[in-house]
Amino acid sequence: MEPIRVAILGFGTVGKGVYAHIKEEQQSLEQTLNRPVQVTAVLVNDESKHRDVANHVLLTTNMDDVLAQQIDIVVEAITGVESAYQYVTAAIEQGCHVVTANKAMYAARGQKLQELAEERRINVKYDASVAGGIPIIDTLNQIHQLESVHRIEAILNGTSNYILTAVAKEGLTFHEALTQATRLGYAEADPSHDIDGFDALNKAYILANLLRKDYQEITVNRRKGLDQLQLDEVLNKQTNQVLKPLVTIDATSESAIEIVVEPTWVEENHPLSSVDGVQNAIVISSDRLGSLKLEGAGAGEKPTAHAIVQDIVKTVKEDNRILV
Ligand code: NAP
Ligand code: HSE
Repeated sequence: MEPIRVAILGFGTVGKGVYAHIKEEQQSLEQTLNRPVQVTAVLVNDESKHRDVANHVLLTTNMDDVLAQQIDIVVEAITGVESAYQYVTAAIEQGCHVVTANKAMYAARGQKLQELAEERRINVKYDASVAGGIPIIDTLNQIHQLESVHRIEAILNGTSNYILTAVAKEGLTFHEALTQATRLGYAEADPSHDIDGFDALNKAYILANLLRKDYQEITVNRRKGLDQLQLDEVLNKQTNQVLKPLVTIDATSESAIEIVVEPTWVEENHPLSSVDGVQNAIVISSDRLGSLKLEGAGAGEKPTAHAIVQDIVKTVKEDNRILV
């Protein structure tokens, strides 16, 4: 039986994780989809690095070579916006579905990509781009289809939460904690994006866009990161409050959805006060639901790869041309 052909763009923490997950779960994927899933090509930046991939996998630095492989689904797990956007656009134009983990790219260009994809009946899925393994995109979409979500409060950057927890509870210095977060595969290739709050802002923007009505703008009222904190305060403050890298998305105004990204002291009984380490959590508030809290691993190889493979499975199930 013809395999579903997958290309992985990027072979760092996330790309390697997806490759390993598909390999380890070959049988269950085939049972679920009635066809095997095969990684056919891997795109990287630096040809000289050793890569642990099977001989049948095309390893290349050239996106044209990837697209020459009759790919069904392109998994995009590289860093930065421009190259990623060009690769994904080329993939859509050639009729490939796309699954991306790249929140910087999706926050900046997601809408354009969806328009391009819609014209061609292509899926662009992006659950791995927000909150690691938490299945937030479909969940939020489903809730919001039936009733308005007023507000989201969340922890969306695993590295920042890991650092604040390690400094406050384990007595690590900021730099020790950041080094560990990098070693564990949580931090961005450039970790300043984690600690300046822009990574959380990109994720907040992606969620806000799901709630946005056509006439509403998305405004950023504040964006602060850990780099603007006096970390001594975290260690020395004698209080019942806990400092958390909070994101709030307020959708109550008719004209705008308002985002605030800011480390915030929360009371011990706050739903996010006990969310520690690399965990992310999202509290969604609406009239009928009251408040719903989702919590899970917010970064790292395995949870992110899990989210991507879930999106691959959904993509195949939604496309009758692939699911034969
Ligand atoms: P990473 O470990 O730094 O790996 C990045 C990979 O992308 C490397 O293999 C690199 O190639 C490749 N790459 C970068 N620019 C490229 C280009 N222009 N053309 C081809 N290949 C290129 O990063 P990561 O942690 O896997 O993250 C990948 C993406 O997933 C990022 O957008 C990140 O924001 C997102 N993400 C990460 C996590 C996480 O927990 N780490 C979770 C969710 C989402 P070389 O190996 O040749 O250098
Ligand atoms: N660097 C990101 C984080 C990876 O720490 O949350 C997951 O998006």
